[in-house]
Amino acid sequence: MKDHIQYDPVSGTLRLLDQRLLPGREEFLLCRTDADVIRAIQEMAVRGAPALGAVGGFACVLAVREIAAAASDSTDLERELETKIAAIAAARPTAVNLSWAVARMRRVWRDNPDRDIGALINLWETESEAIRREDIAANRRIGAFGAELVDFGDVILTHCNAGALATAGFGTALGVIYTAFKQGKDIKVIAGETRPLLQGARLTAYELHREGVPVTIVCDNAYALLMRRGMVHKVVTGADRIAANGDTANKIGTYGAALLARAHGIPFYIAAPLSTLDAAMPTGDDIPIEQRPEAEVTHLNGARLSPEGVSAYNFAFDVTPAELISGIITDAGVLRPPYGESISLALGNI
Ligand code: MRU
Repeated sequence: MKDHIQYDPVSGTLRLLDQRLLPGREEFLLCRTDADVIRAIQEMAVRGAPALGAVGGFACVLAVREIAAAASDSTDLERELETKIAAIAAARPTAVNLSWAVARMRRVWRDNPDRDIGALINLWETESEAIRREDIAANRRIGAFGAELVDFGDVILTHCNAGALATAGFGTALGVIYTAFKQGKDIKVIAGETRPLLQGARLTAYELHREGVPVTIVCDNAYALLMRRGMVHKVVTGADRIAANGDTANKIGTYGAALLARAHGIPFYIAAPLSTLDAAMPTGDDIPIEQRPEAEVTHLNGARLSPEGVSAYNFAFDVTPAELISGIITDAGVLRPPYGESISLALGNI
């Protein structure tokens, strides 16, 4: 797939493939300012934890370029930039990759305090490009480690979209699937449609179909029947944030899929880069869960589904307890329980 996140250093703009329009239309959204990027994130033109990290880096670049264009004095620069990057980090709360990337940009800035604004722009362009490239490389490693867990003939269930579109490129859960498929393993994928925004039916199906990987979509509420009938051999999903004990936040419905997998004796794997591990978060109970507008549930394509006046819950994520997770496939290898130890080791904290 062509790069869906494109930064142009000449014009200082960011082009994002607008994921709201897929699979019907492939159109790029032009972001000229950090506010444009924040809107694109909040309105889901770009989504998926590692993709938010990559885009967050470039949003910082647009922020500093905007300040440079306004020619503020240096005291204002500090204050304005801190305010802007805090707003970028807070654009969506659950995926840690966004605040992780902004913290990384901030560290580079604070480690080089003497530079002028032009030099900071160069520094940040280099850093954001590094975040983007490193994510693609991490996904390729995740793919290689994860493919070892995949057997010939496996039918793999995945939830939401953890593919190229959800990352800087290649994908985490789908990276595992692409790698196993390229190795000649005769696999098939079942993609849960993922209500309410249908990332599975729209985006996962779009990506896999383009790559020639056999994919069948199902309603999210079909998982139990499929597992009961032996139609699923493994579950692999992505993650938005993994706590220090292995509890994992991912798209709403993932926890249910993990419970069903356990009840049917099916391995349940999470695939995520180390940038999704949050050592500062002791357990999943502490992970902030985004609640999105009710209209995403009560309406479909602008048309009301439910009676006027009826409210809806729209929790965008849930947390799968670590004990339901068979392994966490990272760019540093497959982590196994007890996750407190394996995560700490992977992050170099032991
Ligand atoms: O609300 P979204 O579409 O941003 O949610 C995305 C997911 O839950 C993905 O599974 C997760 O970010 C992992 S992406 C590699």
